[in-house]
Amino acid sequence: MNKILKLTSKAAVVTLMLSLSSCYYDEIQEIIVEVPDPPEGVEVSFRTDVEPIFSEESNNCTQCHDGTGLNPDLRTGRAYNAIVPEYVNDNDIEDAENSKFYQNLPGIGHPIDAGFELDVDQLTQIKGWISQGAQNN
Ligand code: HEC
Repeated sequence: MNKILKLTSKAAVVTLMLSLSSCYYDEIQEIIVEVPDPPEGVEVSFRTDVEPIFSEESNNCTQCHDGTGLNPDLRTGRAYNAIVPEYVNDNDIEDAENSKFYQNLPGIGHPIDAGFELDVDQLTQIKGWISQGAQNN
């Protein structure tokens, strides 16, 4: 009787450990998105590098962020004023990954499933644009 109890509780502990470790693993996976800085001396342009990302067919933010109420409005010509300064402020330039905009990007921590995730190249452009001063360039 005792033996059976012991075995059962051992099995429970192992199951618990397995399930805990799998959650833990998922979390780690999400946190480690290694996004490099853009190469030294390469200026990131909002208009030519960043803004077009929001309307790309494979990851079209503007199907939802279309200016009808969901902030930020990410349509071409509107996105800059919708993002700066509300989602990217002066302090964020020191720490781009901590900005509200970056933190909420699909692939980082978008609040709902957007149906896609931005890839590392796209994230690099956005992060680089912020750390270079989030200019309207
Ligand atoms: C399928 C619709 C959909 C798509 C596609 C989508 N979003 Fe969102 N996004 C939402 C919704 C809905 C929220 C707000 C959720 C909430 O209120 O908690 C949101 C929230 C955000 C926020 C945070 C807003 C805030 O005030 O906290 C940011 C930033 C954002 N999205 C950026 C993007 C970007 C950039 C893209 C494209 C790369 C994108 N989203 C694609 C629906 C979408």
